[in-house]
Amino acid sequence: MNFSIKNICCIGAGYVGGPSMSMIALNNPSIKVNVVDLNIKRIDEWNDNNLDKLPIYEPGLKEIIKLCRNKNLFFKTSVEESIAEADMIFICVNTPTKTKGIGAGQASDLIWVEASARQIAKHARSNVIVIEKSTIPVKTALTIKTILNCSDAESNLNEKRFYVLSNPEFLSEGTAINDLKNPDRILIGGDDEKSIEALEDIYKTWVPKKKIIRTNLWSSELSKLTANAFLAQRVSSINSISALCESTGANVNEVAKAIGSDSRINPKFLKTGPGFGGSCFKKDILNLVYLCNFYGLQEVALYWQNVLDLNYWQTKRISKIIVNKLFGTITEKKIGILGFSFKADTNDTRESPSIKICQDLIEEGAILKIYDPKVSIYQIESDLKLKEKGNNSSKTNSWEFHQNLYDTAHESDAIIVLTEWEEFSNIDWVRISSLMRKPSWVFDTRRIIDRDKAMESGLETWIIGQG
Ligand code: NAD
Ligand code: UGA
Repeated sequence: MNFSIKNICCIGAGYVGGPSMSMIALNNPSIKVNVVDLNIKRIDEWNDNNLDKLPIYEPGLKEIIKLCRNKNLFFKTSVEESIAEADMIFICVNTPTKTKGIGAGQASDLIWVEASARQIAKHARSNVIVIEKSTIPVKTALTIKTILNCSDAESNLNEKRFYVLSNPEFLSEGTAINDLKNPDRILIGGDDEKSIEALEDIYKTWVPKKKIIRTNLWSSELSKLTANAFLAQRVSSINSISALCESTGANVNEVAKAIGSDSRINPKFLKTGPGFGGSCFKKDILNLVYLCNFYGLQEVALYWQNVLDLNYWQTKRISKIIVNKLFGTITEKKIGILGFSFKADTNDTRESPSIKICQDLIEEGAILKIYDPKVSIYQIESDLKLKEKGNNSSKTNSWEFHQNLYDTAHESDAIIVLTEWEEFSNIDWVRISSLMRKPSWVFDTRRIIDRDKAMESGLETWIIGQG
C-alpha cells in the first residue's frame, strides 16, 4: 500500500506532542497537523495569542508556534473529528506509573494509550498509519494492533486496515527544540515497509537519512526504556561519587573531567546534582524493573532498581546535610529556595528533587521562601501537597513564593540552589549576604554558583561533590 500523507493527527498536546508536532509542521508545510487533547485548558493555552502563555516553556518553541499555528498546525479538542480526517496518527499521551491494581507502583498505566487506540479504531478511516510515540512497555504495539483489528459490528471495524509503527521520542525538556531540530537519531520500529517509508519521508524533510534507524517493533519499544535507564544510571553513578568526593576531599567536577576524557566514557551526562527528576526516568526504570520481574529476571530487575534507590538516597542526603549544617535544627528558620523545576529551561516540576527537599525542610519546621523563574505559585502549591497532609496551619504557612531571587534572602539563614538556572550563576552575593541573618549559608546542589564570590561576601558555603 502506498501512502500519501496530507493530514496528521497527534493525540496528546503535552511536552512531547506540542513540540514534536510543531517541528513536523514547520518542516512539512504541505501537511496539515492537528494536535488534539481532552484537556480544554491546555488547548486554550496552546491557542493563546500571548505566546508567553503557552502551556509549555521551551526555548525556541514560541517562534515556531508563531510561524505555523493556524496555518498548517492546529491545536484542538475535537479528537474524534481530527482522527477521522487523518492519514497518520501519533499516540502521544501520558503513560505514568500505575497507582493501583496489578503492578501498582511499577508498571505503566496504559489506560490513555488504550483509550486512544479505541478512539482510533472507532473513528479513523481505513489504511491509516498509527504511531506509538508515547514511551510504553515492550509489546504494547501488540495491544494496539489487537484493539485496532478486532471486529465490531457496530462500526465495521473489521473492514479497516491499520499499520502500527513505534517511533519513540528522545527529546529532553529545556532543549526540546534543538533536540528535535538536530536529533542524534530517529528510531522507527515496524514490519510494514511502505508505512515505515511514509514516516521516514516526513522526517527526511529535515533529518539526514543516515540518522534514521529502523528496527523491529519490540527493539524500538525496548530501546526507549533502555536509553532512559542508561542515562539515569550515569547520573546515579556520578551522584554516588559526589558523596565520596565530599568525604575524601576530591572534587567531582575534576573526577568527571578526568573520566569523561576517555572516549569510551565521554563527558556528557556526568553532572552531579540533587538527584534526577523529570516525568520519565523514574517511571521508565520502574517499568523496566516490572518487565524484568514479569519475565523472571529478578537479578536484572534488582540491578536497575539500584539506580532508583541511589537517586532517592542522593535527594534525601541533601536535606540531612542542610539540617546538620544549620546546627541540627531548622525550626522556624527562613530558608531561600532557588529553583523548583526539575532542570533549567523548563517549567516542568514533575518528580523534581526540589519537591522532596522542600517537603523535608518544611517537615523539619523551616519557613521556605521559594523562587523559580518559570514555575508558578499554583504549581508549587500543588506539588508540595501540604494541604493534603492535614489542617496543620503551621504547615500551610510554611512557604512563600517570591518573584525575585533576592527577596528569598531576606532574614534567611540559608539559600539552597536546587535548579541550574543561568541567572543563579550571576548572583550578587554581597547583596544577598547583606540581607541574610548571620551566620548565613549557601548550599549549591548544582555547582553553578561562583563560590569564591559567595565566600568573599562572608557566606558559609557547601558545594555538592566537593570536600
Ligand atoms: P503530558 O502529560 O505532558 O501530555 C499528555 C497529554 O495527553 C495530556 O495533555 C493529556 O490530557 C492527553 N491525553 C491523554 N489521553 C488522551 C486522549 N484519549 N485523547 C486526547 N488527549 C489525551 O505527557 P508528555 O510529557 O508529553 O509525555 C507523553 C509521552 O511521551 C509519555 O509516554 C512520556 O513517557 C513520553 N516522553 C516524554 C518526554 C518528555 O520530555 N516529557 C520525552 C520523551 C518521551
Ligand atoms: C530525559 C532524556 O534525556 C531524554 O532523552 C528522554 O527523551 C526524556 O528523558 C524522556 O523520555 O522523558 P529529560 O528528563 O527531559 O530527558 O531531561 P534530562 O536532561 O535527561 O534530565 C533528567 C534529570 O537528570 C534532570 O533532573 C537533570 O537535572 C538530571 N541530570 C541530567 C543530572 O543530574 N546530571 C546530568 O549530567 C544530566
